[in-house]
Amino acid sequence: MSSTHNGNGSQRLAGKVALVTGGSRGIGRATAERFAREGAKVVVVSRSGADLGSDILSLTGDVSREADVSALFAEIERTFGQLDVVVNNAAIEFEGTVDDTTVEQWDHVMTVNVRSVFLTSKCALPLFRRAGGGSIVNIASVDGHWAEPGLAVYNTSKGAVLALTRALAIDHGKDNVRSNAICPSYVLTDMLEQFFDHEADPAKARAQAASIHPLNRMSYPDDIANLALFLASDEASFATGQSYVLDGGLTAGRTVDLSRLLSTETAHV
Ligand SMILES: NC(=O)c1ccc[n+]([C@@H]2O[C@H](COP(=O)([O-])OP(=O)(O)OC[C@H]3O[C@@H](n4cnc5c(N)ncnc54)[C@H](O)[C@@H]3O)[C@@H](O)[C@H]2O)c1
Repeated sequence: MSSTHNGNGSQRLAGKVALVTGGSRGIGRATAERFAREGAKVVVVSRSGADLGSDILSLTGDVSREADVSALFAEIERTFGQLDVVVNNAAIEFEGTVDDTTVEQWDHVMTVNVRSVFLTSKCALPLFRRAGGGSIVNIASVDGHWAEPGLAVYNTSKGAVLALTRALAIDHGKDNVRSNAICPSYVLTDMLEQFFDHEADPAKARAQAASIHPLNRMSYPDDIANLALFLASDEASFATGQSYVLDGGLTAGRTVDLSRLLSTETAHV
């Protein structure tokens, strides 16, 4: 996979310790690798674990489980004795309308995508206070702002992540804890490839997904990592409580020209 500008290691995170959840692949992996190049000590946690080289500590765990998150933070304390940044990236997608979604499926997605952010934040806050502050970067989605068809619980979970992002900022700003969210559109990762593979014509679906972006492409994990780096770093010391949409212009306006579908009198609403 090709990538966009991914930095050459200007040490913007020197002296910091960062946790990236779901860091074995995709956006999480790109973020972990970028942070390490910028001088951070990086811990990733994922369900499967991954060999990310000697610069990144890769642990296995389920971030939706309280016991796993407690064990993860105990390991961070033991190994590094500090924590400055948490990137809550781990999530799952589930396709279905409310009609198609069982109660168990609903609870599972909400647990993985939302409770995990609560759990890691709860464990991180005491460490952040001890360090004089910290930065939480939640990887949400444009689906937290609008609803994508057939993704009822995923849309809901990302909206909840945005609400929790704001709550953390409001309640813990006094401790110099910042909390922000990144809302990507389509990012070329395994999660997205699996989504396209379920379509009747995957190649056509990929081309259409690129074409709805004004920049006529989907994003790469490095695009998201670049923004996560800024929000994690001291350069963003006044940024908190916000959602940063990174979508190649997708949600800036409608890309369907209604004048082609409607008469010219009614097209310009
Ligand atoms: N790919 C996209 O198009 C896209 C668009 C918008 C938002 N996002 C969001 O970006 C984030 C990363 O997406 P991605 O495409 O890189 O995903 P991915 O499926 O490629 O990777 C997800 C990672 O999360 C980990 N993970 C999942 N559940 C976990 C759990 N319970 N405990 C620990 N680790 C767990 C997986 O092991 C994996 O490392 C997600 O929050 C996703 O919702 C992705």
